Amino acid sequence: MNNEKILIIGANGQIGTVLTQALRDLYGQDQVIASDLAAVPTMPAGPFETLDVLNAVRLGEIVRQYGIGQVYHLAAILSAKGEQHPKWAWEINMGGVFNVLEAAREYRLKVFFPSSIASFGPFAERQNTPQHGPLEPTTVYGISKVAGELWSQYYHLRYGVDVRSLRYPGIISYQSMPGGGTTDYAVDIYHKAVLKEDFTCFLSAGTRLPMMYMDDAVRATLSLMDAPAEKVKLRTSYNLAGMSFTPAEIAAEIQKHYPEFRVSYQPDFRQAIADSWPESIDDADARNDWGWAPQFDLASMTAEMLSRLKEKYAR
Ligand code: NAD
Ligand code: SER
Repeated sequence: MNNEKILIIGANGQIGTVLTQALRDLYGQDQVIASDLAAVPTMPAGPFETLDVLNAVRLGEIVRQYGIGQVYHLAAILSAKGEQHPKWAWEINMGGVFNVLEAAREYRLKVFFPSSIASFGPFAERQNTPQHGPLEPTTVYGISKVAGELWSQYYHLRYGVDVRSLRYPGIISYQSMPGGGTTDYAVDIYHKAVLKEDFTCFLSAGTRLPMMYMDDAVRATLSLMDAPAEKVKLRTSYNLAGMSFTPAEIAAEIQKHYPEFRVSYQPDFRQAIADSWPESIDDADARNDWGWAPQFDLASMTAEMLSRLKEKYAR
């Protein structure tokens, strides 16, 4: 049982909303301090602090005020928004990582830093992309994730900071909406199906990408953070796989539940981002080192997404 107080930075986002609740269910509401740029009504009940992660002084104040022992640093600008505002994305993504790692060094914090499949670029093998191999991302988001991974490893080796990281695939959730990524279509498509609307996809029908249901992503995160330190052998970031599918395949799966559902394709600038990423991921290191195994595939995720969203819209 973890008795340390936990700070979540970027808690209002797609992952933070669900992870905050999961951590509070596990450790108690008052043990988990949510933070973001501003409070929003969708946050689960519990302690909340306003924090811009670029403000190192305020971060230190919150750490001292609550006696924080662990930080989940989720704040970032994702791939699509990052390509629209590259300098801003770099400043937030890198400035945030540095402030968190510096606070971790000063206050001996354990840190979770999410990386991404965006760490890989066009020179990586696209099928079963291995843990080690060329990265060379072509998006500002990907560059910031690779740099964040390497700085995490540096702080671990140089200062002994216990920093742990996962290269998340595209995350799919019913509880929260994604915030500006290239995999966002795979959430939006379920909403449109349940609302009985047609869906226009911004990626082409055959674009295969690695994806994961939120339950699996949260379980992976908690189990990595809970693993004994000696089992966490990679201090850059672990490859993590759930499933891989194309827009045509997710549409066909939804049509098993909603046969009248129609999808058309109008690829935009996000197509080039997707084309530079892996199609599927080899996560053997995560499986071997700390026992990772996903539970959801496309069929089980689709059944759950549709039924949860149907309930949500009925309310
Ligand atoms: P999101 O965009 O939904 O949420 C990010 C949150 O960070 C937002 O609530 C935003 O208000 C906050 N934020 C932005 N700038 C901030 C700042 N300066 N200070 C404090 N907070 C700030 O993102 P998400 O999907 O929840 O992703 C969380 C993390 O996981 C990110 O690091 C992202 O790169 C990573 N990730 C996400 C996915 C995915 O599919 N969702 C996949 C791979 C990696
Ligand atoms: N889902 C994220 C994005 O599309 C991947 O990191 O940006």
